[in-house]
Amino acid sequence: MTLAAVGTAAVAVVAVAVTLAPAPERAPPRSAPTEIGGRPDPGRSADAGRGATVFRACSACHTIGRGGADVDGPNLYGVVGARVAERRPRYGYTQALRDSGGTWTEARLDAWLTDPAAFAPGTAMHFPGLPDAGERADVIAYLGAQGPARR
Ligand code: HEC
Repeated sequence: MTLAAVGTAAVAVVAVAVTLAPAPERAPPRSAPTEIGGRPDPGRSADAGRGATVFRACSACHTIGRGGADVDGPNLYGVVGARVAERRPRYGYTQALRDSGGTWTEARLDAWLTDPAAFAPGTAMHFPGLPDAGERADVIAYLGAQGPARR
């Protein structure tokens, strides 16, 4: 790797770390009751553009483009509204995730992305989750924008 490439890789890592760090300006005041996996701020709407930035943390394991490869995790094109653990039949989903059943609604994606291991104990998605409700809403909006038009 050239020095320039090393530099670029380092910048990419920093960008992901910055994305994952909780945004201090969105932290609730200390006196406010804290709620685990709190609700998005009602005055703030989900933004697929911001979600594209959040998705960088996912792209270590997932492709998103139509017909993209399954890597560590399955390709995620059109995952919103799809059956859980069925959309990529040749991908080796865990029994843990298959047992969750049902459909990837936005609410279930929110629960999954808050804490994958709590949603499907034994899952192979070794990702700690996104503690920030706004980031989850944004990345779900981004996922929803990647797929066949539904609305
Ligand atoms: C360290 C790798 C890794 C990271 C990072 C990761 N995932 Fe995953 N993801 C996986 C694996 C592995 C699975 C399959 C889990 C299983 O079968 O138990 C999965 C499954 C999923 C599924 C279910 C797909 C289906 O077809 O049912 C969704 C949705 C998903 N991930 C979204 C995300 C999002 C959004 C992010 C970023 C916020 C993310 N993942 C980050 C590895 C990862």
